[in-house]
Amino acid sequence: MNVLLIGSGGREHAMAWKLAQSSLLDELYVTPGNPGVVRHGRQVVLDLNDQKKVRAFLKEKKIRIIVVGPEGPLVDGFHDRIAEDPTLKDVTVIGPRKIAAQLEGSKDFAKEFMFRHNIPTAAHRTFVKGQLKEAEEHLDRMTEPYVIKADGLAAGKGVIITNDKKEALRTIKGMLDGSSFGDAGQKVVIEQFLKGIELSAFLITDGEHFKILPSAKDYKRIGTGDTGPNTGGMGAVSPAPFADKDFMQKVHDRVAAPTIRGLRKEGIDYQGFLFMGLMNVNGEPYVIEYNVRLGDPEAQCILPRLRSDLLDLFEGIASGTLSECHVDVEDRTAVTIVMAAEGYPGKYATGEPILGLESVKDAYVFQSGTAMKGDQLITNGGRVLSVTAFGKDLEQAIMATYRSAALINFEGRYMRLDIGLDLVKKPTGKAATPQKA
Ligand code: AMP
Ligand code: GLY
Repeated sequence: MNVLLIGSGGREHAMAWKLAQSSLLDELYVTPGNPGVVRHGRQVVLDLNDQKKVRAFLKEKKIRIIVVGPEGPLVDGFHDRIAEDPTLKDVTVIGPRKIAAQLEGSKDFAKEFMFRHNIPTAAHRTFVKGQLKEAEEHLDRMTEPYVIKADGLAAGKGVIITNDKKEALRTIKGMLDGSSFGDAGQKVVIEQFLKGIELSAFLITDGEHFKILPSAKDYKRIGTGDTGPNTGGMGAVSPAPFADKDFMQKVHDRVAAPTIRGLRKEGIDYQGFLFMGLMNVNGEPYVIEYNVRLGDPEAQCILPRLRSDLLDLFEGIASGTLSECHVDVEDRTAVTIVMAAEGYPGKYATGEPILGLESVKDAYVFQSGTAMKGDQLITNGGRVLSVTAFGKDLEQAIMATYRSAALINFEGRYMRLDIGLDLVKKPTGKAATPQKA
């Protein structure tokens, strides 16, 4: 089977690596890819908006399955363009259509969907242009912290949590008048604050049946000890120790099943991954957000734990036999550490040589923001690469991952030193505090 993988990050590197192991795979094509991704597939240049060229490429290469890594093309209607092309009937897109991609593309759509289907989430109100006064009155009735979200895609930056009512109001004003987030902020969602610990849960679905994939805890803040601004994710642990059988059963029954049922009930086709961003509030899962893709760096942490053939699951979606597929997961714990360029998520340098990759023997290295300069791998993004290793328990996995990460270097290399440490129980039962590595 020939497959086209779309994307250029660490998530896509992990997907390409995993797909390349499949006995069902004939040829893997990747676009736009990165130097890590292209080690596992043939790189092609393809403008996804040029349907004529896309069609010609898919036909020429006899592509059966297109895997869309990031949300952008999905929210943009890429799946719809393929599905509505009568000459591409035998092509399956892994990733939902535009209407379902709104689960990620519009916070308001997602919240209303959850409300309709009784899926646990923070209470919310949505305000549009001209409703600043109503939003202010709403804030008056709330207690801090205030959670303010731009409705549309804002690359993870559209959420502000503050105790300061004036700042909350300024944020709302900036969003509603279009000055801070452009179109993404012209609707604003104000939410109740949920206190708990976050978890990323994933499923794969053909729209009718679904399979729960391994879960992961993501570390979103840039600073050791969960400080500083939010990032795309600085590390991950899979499984999270608190995501035990009981908790995951609740995720299955109260979130995953009603979500898939709700989509069907509303006549919305859904094929692909669904990322359920959850808050564990005293053992109860609440949905913070949906994403219509795998997470990054969660994919780099969970795909190495997946023993099953990923392409077999995709084929299950294509042929409507996902219910018969088996998801087999490695028991050991995986830890992923992201190496970033100093300054990220703000300004950072690029073009720094990356050294030491060949010394890493006991871990997987997935590339994100990298490029080639001649024969030399160089940095080319904020999040540069991620390192994943296994351990028989969380402590062992943390040590193994940091040991391998220490072998890789580039000018301005930055990584958090405490990935997973908050989850390691000290003998007293208290969580460990971050230490300098
Ligand atoms: P989102 O883009 O909706 O995932 O939000 C970004 C981050 O803000 C989340 O990962 C949480 O850490 C935090 N967050 C979002 N909504 C809430 C909420 N209702 N209560 C507490 N934290 C939240
Ligand atoms: N790591 C969070 C995300 O991919 O959205």
